[in-house]
Amino acid sequence: MKLLVTGACGFIGSQYVRTVRELRPDDQIVVLDKLTYAGRRENLEGVDCELIVGSIDDPQIVREAMEGCDAVVNFAAESHVDRSIKAQYDFCRTHVLGTAVLLDAVRELGVERYLQVSTDEVYGSILDGSFTEQSPLDPSSPYSATKAAGDLLVSAHVTTYKIDAVICRGSNNYGPRQHPEKLIPLTILNALHGDPIPVYGDGRQVRNWLFVEDFCRAIDLALREGRPGEAYNVGGPDECENLEVVRRVLELTGRDESLIEHVRDRPGHDRRYSLSSQKIREELGWEPQVRFDEGIARTVAWYRDNRWWWEPIRRGEYREYYERHYGRPLKSATSA
Ligand code: NAD
Ligand code: TYD
Repeated sequence: MKLLVTGACGFIGSQYVRTVRELRPDDQIVVLDKLTYAGRRENLEGVDCELIVGSIDDPQIVREAMEGCDAVVNFAAESHVDRSIKAQYDFCRTHVLGTAVLLDAVRELGVERYLQVSTDEVYGSILDGSFTEQSPLDPSSPYSATKAAGDLLVSAHVTTYKIDAVICRGSNNYGPRQHPEKLIPLTILNALHGDPIPVYGDGRQVRNWLFVEDFCRAIDLALREGRPGEAYNVGGPDECENLEVVRRVLELTGRDESLIEHVRDRPGHDRRYSLSSQKIREELGWEPQVRFDEGIARTVAWYRDNRWWWEPIRRGEYREYYERHYGRPLKSATSA
């Protein structure tokens, strides 16, 4: 099989390429990535694949990259809710226009299978129970609204043009190579540096944590065996309040809770996400293999052992973003 994987220089896509390499060493993999602030060539270092640098909203480069591919897996995205609240156009361009360009090329080139990587955030917040694939889409942020628009475009193309497409909606992922703008890596790196950990509002928001390797196995299973036109929810095995997550990381890094600093809440902050994964479990036999206790210990160990990966990030654009967003500077990279 020849696969086009978009956005694979980011966190989840780079793990997905590794997963495919392990499961099917003979597959050919082409990566199309714009290399935004979140995309790095280093994420695919030593991994056998071809990298094309370009945007999924560019029809010409998309056609060149997709030529001869049997399947497309679309990870390309702007992935941070807080950034979408400050400036939304890149989210609209990549999630809506980018998805449309990919779908046009899938149709024109007769690609056999398309998989859209999506998120639990398209369903919005749920205080009790869990969302199923039948739940209505009710997104809260520009990030999730544009992801929902991408999902709807995929479904519309299944209905109108009879393309063979599947959508995978994952809950909050964590693991190696996640950009430190997100809660878990931010907490790990701030804890290692003895920097305060900014917790939004009361910190009692709930997320359903999914180890990145488990999500990638689910995506690959859905790509190969999912029913055409279907969406599959992929939730993690454990849900946790943000404060519990932060406390766990503080324990693992040998820091105490005095580092926790409650800061102004995120506007429109979703209180709880929860997915029912019954469909993918029953239809495709997927099960998460990594519980939160194990995954978080592995993640902390990875960041501790891979300074080479995060030091340049903390010296670059992220430093300015952090200061703008949190109103205080990051401690210098050398103090960890
Ligand atoms: P990420 O921000 O780490 O990586 C995104 C990648 O997409 C980067 O390499 C970036 O350079 C690339 N990119 C951005 N715009 C592009 C464009 N126009 N053309 C080509 N490449 C582009 O994101 P991630 O956390 O790895 O998320 C990947 C996908 O998984 C996204 O679609 C996201 O919505 C979805 N998702 C993420 C989570 C999570 O917890 N991180 C959970 C569920 C679903
Ligand atoms: P995040 O990692 O941004 O993922 P998402 O918004 O997609 O769930 O945030 C996870 C949770 O952590 C969310 O409830 C917001 C909260 N959070 C903080 O409390 N402080 C922070 O500095 C960040 C980035 C997130």
